[in-house]
Amino acid sequence: MPLNEYQAANLANWNDRVPIHWDSEDYRIQQFVSDPEYVSDAIRFDRERDELGDVAGKTLLHLQCHIGTDTLSWARSGATVTGVDFSEPAIDAASRLSSESGTPGEFVVAELDDSPNILPDRQFDIVYTGLGAICWLPDIKNWAKVVAHFLKPGGTFYIVEGHPMMWAVSDQDHGDQIVLDWPYFEAAGPLKFDEDKTYAGDGTIDHPTQYSFTHGLGETITALIEAGLQIEFVHEHRVLQWQAFPMLEPAGNGLWKMPKGRENHLPLMHSIRAHRSF
Ligand SMILES: C[S@@+](CC[C@H](N)C(=O)[O-])C[C@H]1O[C@@H](n2cnc3c(N)ncnc32)[C@H](O)[C@@H]1O
Repeated sequence: MPLNEYQAANLANWNDRVPIHWDSEDYRIQQFVSDPEYVSDAIRFDRERDELGDVAGKTLLHLQCHIGTDTLSWARSGATVTGVDFSEPAIDAASRLSSESGTPGEFVVAELDDSPNILPDRQFDIVYTGLGAICWLPDIKNWAKVVAHFLKPGGTFYIVEGHPMMWAVSDQDHGDQIVLDWPYFEAAGPLKFDEDKTYAGDGTIDHPTQYSFTHGLGETITALIEAGLQIEFVHEHRVLQWQAFPMLEPAGNGLWKMPKGRENHLPLMHSIRAHRSF
């Protein structure tokens, strides 16, 4: 499928980020290669909360897998993993990480909406995604159909993602004020940003324009239900895996939280587990 204007800009932007992320401290590529026990913060977060449960012996599809650190961490937890992403450099990096670390994984270039055409007749025990994934997708209903498409009957879907209320907060310093700068609900058009830096590493991005999309929590949950999934839980978390705005304080283990006394004011991440019952 040809990419639209927003997807094409985002692809160029994400392609530029790959070598910067590969070399960055945050993605810990060297640690992943040298320590076979190492798993990424995303998987450590889940293990501490035991939200997805045991993945050993299961097939797992990771949508928007980026450079594969989370995908291969699920492999280190016993799953047989497949990662898809529309960035060819990201998929090349993920394959390289798989071979250099001796951690098996299959990685495939596919735009999200097009991925059922790229991986026809494939279904998985688990579909996983999150942590800065769905904000790049314009249509949450279509995304939910893709999720359902890839799940075996009885299969489990799990997402852990930035909370839409967190995305709505201004990333500027407003002292102790919580200022909402961005939409909460899904809108017809995207938000446009021009940033020549990325969240990990020090390099400069040649294609700084990016388009992102907001999705309210109810819109995401309803899209999953309409796609045929049965929701098991929706958890809203008081911690976040990155410092989204200046007010957040370190919470230990690489997590961030609202300042003391205001921990209950704002959800920062959410996670949803659901299964396909048909
Ligand atoms: C922040 S990463 C999320 C992955 C993971 N949490 C991580 O940090 O490694 C977002 C990923 O979404 C991918 N992406 C963005 N838009 C996409 C689309 N329309 N189809 C497929 N992948 C897309 C990007 O290439 C990028 O690798």
